[in-house]
Amino acid sequence: MADVFTVLAQDHHEVRSMLAELEKGPTRAAGANQDQLALRKKMTEQLIIEESKHEALEEMYFWPAVREHLQSGAALADEATGQEQAAKHVLADLDKLGSGDAAFEKLLAKFIMDAREHIEFEESRVWPLLRAALSAETSAELGAKITEGKKTAPTRPHPHTPPSPGALKTAGPVAAAADKARDAVTGRGD
Ligand SMILES: [Fe+2]
Ligand SMILES: [Fe+2]
Repeated sequence: MADVFTVLAQDHHEVRSMLAELEKGPTRAAGANQDQLALRKKMTEQLIIEESKHEALEEMYFWPAVREHLQSGAALADEATGQEQAAKHVLADLDKLGSGDAAFEKLLAKFIMDAREHIEFEESRVWPLLRAALSAETSAELGAKITEGKKTAPTRPHPHTPPSPGALKTAGPVAAAADKARDAVTGRGD
């Protein structure tokens, strides 16, 4: 069974690849045609889905473990969930724009920069401490919960839901069902 760090590292790897792909363009300013712009929008939607699930699951399971097991856990979790909330606002705005829109590239560039910093913060500031503090068993349990949670995690950013595990556990399934209904209508998520 994959431990929590393996599960999260896999997500980070996927998100980083998507960021690198999007960074390559082409953008509208660089002369992208309609098909390329449509693909760019679709790739951004996929990024929003993956990112929303990942951060929601971290907020449900990962940050509570950080708070519980690390002496500096509250400060680390506060800083990281603050970054996650800020990113959700950017993604919610990005979600409303077309990829031909001038504001789209500005927001996407901001998200790419912030997301890389956020991943770096988690991997270099938080993971080494938590790795040392968790038993192999707890680490595997957390990994399993996150893997299982993927099936019902929200696929939209929901910046107005507070990043507490309780709020997410209550609002999460309802929000996720609504997100899935929207995915079906818009043909997303497949
Ligand atoms: Fe995160
Ligand atoms: Fe993460």
